[in-house]
Amino acid sequence: MLRSAVILLALVTMTMSGEAQYSKKTLVAHRGASADAPEHTLAAYRLAMAQGADFVEQDLAVTKDGVLICLHDASLERTTNVEELFPDRATTQTIEGRTRKAWLANDFTLAEIKRLDAGSWFDPKFKDEKIVTFDEAVALIKGQAGLFPELKTPEIYAGRDVKFEELVAAALDQHGLRGPKADPKTPIILQTFGEASARKLAQMKIGVPVVLLIGDGRNFDSAEKVKAWKGIVQGLGPAKQIVLKNPDFVKWAHAEGMTVTPYTITTRDLKSGFADVTAEMNHYLYTLGVDAVFTDNPDKFPRK
Ligand code: G3P
Ligand code: CA
Repeated sequence: MLRSAVILLALVTMTMSGEAQYSKKTLVAHRGASADAPEHTLAAYRLAMAQGADFVEQDLAVTKDGVLICLHDASLERTTNVEELFPDRATTQTIEGRTRKAWLANDFTLAEIKRLDAGSWFDPKFKDEKIVTFDEAVALIKGQAGLFPELKTPEIYAGRDVKFEELVAAALDQHGLRGPKADPKTPIILQTFGEASARKLAQMKIGVPVVLLIGDGRNFDSAEKVKAWKGIVQGLGPAKQIVLKNPDFVKWAHAEGMTVTPYTITTRDLKSGFADVTAEMNHYLYTLGVDAVFTDNPDKFPRK
């Protein structure tokens, strides 16, 4: 009894500090099995699990009525028929530095969003797929794989009444996905490009590992820059080119107890020099020594 309690306490402590986030080379299905099904639909998540994903990624956005949904872009037009159903609802937005006409998800209620077709843009055979809520994603995945939610474009909500980090924390509590009673079959790792968001999650003592994403344009070229994130996040998620150009990145992160999960290895962006996407994943995992990879192609993940 005492021994079990000690083991449980050790596991929880490790999870809180992030050290136990991966127990093996790990497959994160990027937006689900998004090479073969429309990203962030139940079809993509189901296929990812059927193809052996250890974690299924969600990009999170917040609707006008405060519901977490799974959507990569801040706006709806790339992956749905919003333009056809709501032609007058576009606004001019500056998103990730580009000003354009956009149908911002945060300007639509969940009921409106549920009217949209989120599958046909990918292939007409997915016509009935819908944008899913985070609750629906958890209901599908819980007990079968981990979830890897990204707090996407947090800067979009500046000046809007959205408490993104608190919404995510409440959702984890509601589904029993953090704390000592968290479901061990459903590990959670949060991720964000937003430095302020990462710091806020640390201040909140969110209780699950957090990965800071690093875009290709970022200058992360010294051990000191990596070390600066120790104790704030438990892992780094660099654009894959960062690790390819500088293999020391992995050494620096590991020296500080942080994991490395590069993005995105995909048949849609196969880098020259690799015979196929499996060879590319092999290189990152076993030559460069990263801990996990984001991939659109879970079926191509090299299992040893
Ligand atoms: O979250 C890892 C990777 O997904 C970051 O890129 O743009 O696909 O969210 P993005
Ligand atoms: Ca993402």
